[in-house]
Amino acid sequence: MNRLSGIRSIMEDIATTGVAGGQETTVNLSPGNPSHNPEVVATWERLVRETLDEQFHDTSTRYGPSRGSAVLVEAIVDYFNATYGWSIRPENVLVGPGSQLLSFIATTLFTGPGPGGRMRHLVLPRTPDYTGYQGLSLDQAGLVGVEPQVCAAGERFFRYGLDLDAVRRVDDIGMLLLSNPSNPSGSSIDATELAELITVAKEHDAPLVIDHAYGEPFPRIAPSDIKPVLHSHVVNLFTLSKAGIPAERIAFAIGPSHLIDPMVSFMANSALHAPQLLQATVARAFAKGDIDTLTAQHITPYYTAKRALAGRLLAESLPAAVNWRLHSGDRGLFCWLLVDHDWFDDLRFYETLKRHGVFIVPGRHFFAPPLTTPFLRTHGKRCVRLSLSPGEDELAAGIRRLSAVLGGLVSDGGGRG
Ligand SMILES: Cc1ncc(COP(=O)(O)O)c(C=O)c1O
Repeated sequence: MNRLSGIRSIMEDIATTGVAGGQETTVNLSPGNPSHNPEVVATWERLVRETLDEQFHDTSTRYGPSRGSAVLVEAIVDYFNATYGWSIRPENVLVGPGSQLLSFIATTLFTGPGPGGRMRHLVLPRTPDYTGYQGLSLDQAGLVGVEPQVCAAGERFFRYGLDLDAVRRVDDIGMLLLSNPSNPSGSSIDATELAELITVAKEHDAPLVIDHAYGEPFPRIAPSDIKPVLHSHVVNLFTLSKAGIPAERIAFAIGPSHLIDPMVSFMANSALHAPQLLQATVARAFAKGDIDTLTAQHITPYYTAKRALAGRLLAESLPAAVNWRLHSGDRGLFCWLLVDHDWFDDLRFYETLKRHGVFIVPGRHFFAPPLTTPFLRTHGKRCVRLSLSPGEDELAAGIRRLSAVLGGLVSDGGGRG
């Protein structure tokens, strides 16, 4: 917890680094921030204003319950029961200040030294996965990442698959955690893989925590092959961050009460509760249907068009002589680019691009260290993540510069420049 993770150091880098010579404007293709989509911004602004006008005294001026304010918990219960035909109750819900904290709470409760001193690991069953998971464990050796299967798809695409046999071989699982669809690649497990992961979770009596930040039922930024499920060993995480209000820190967990209950205690002991004004705002968004309208009419179509644009620009400008592949997917907040050559090194590429005023995220930050296996020494250092969050012009400029820099590396004989 006290070390700088890869993504934190990059964010600091961006804040402090000027562009060499000051000639070019900086293009930032690294953020996980959702795009500033005008309709989305306007809807949240309206909802916050209404809440401020009508509920400020009842929310901001008093402490609230650690599980979450009654109005939001009820709205979540009603929304999910109506959407999925469930019959969850308030005891199945915990609201928190961001799903990062909810993941940390679950990791701290369910992993680490167990009874008898055995280490219960935090296991990421399909890396690459969200780099923010790497700092969750309080034990330096507490994180285990499982390498994926890589399947080529046509000339310029590939897909990651879950290596279930490898997952089954992991000992001492305290908790399984995955983002689905995944940050960074957008890959999704299917119903059979979900059932298998639940079997592994049951065998270890460990929770399977599924982080739906980009998926179902909102904001549907990237396509998911599974819907959230209710199960004695599954905790689902949802966040409003990617639906447009990342700075307001509202997320929630849904799961069986025997797993949610200790998480509520942890919330009370650590943060007390999430901000109440924004809880009331989000309750409005659920109750009035804004969340579904935003998802269907503005968020999903926006990221479908953006991903298609980025795919086109990359195909047009990346050097034909380079063996590059994109993780396949119809939409998403990111493009995950593999440059499959011995000479390519993601960190060196990141540094070179930075000197040309373009920020990306080196792919190695999404694999669990140490990067010493044959797969991670090669594939783990040949990927980069590009964010589709900036506007179209900035995105196009960034892709053009990135392609030119990659072309330059090839002419220099492969990355020695
Ligand atoms: C997969 C995933 N989970 C969680 C988060 C953080 O969510 P929150 O803002 O709710 O803490 C992110 C942010 O990038 C993410 O990509």
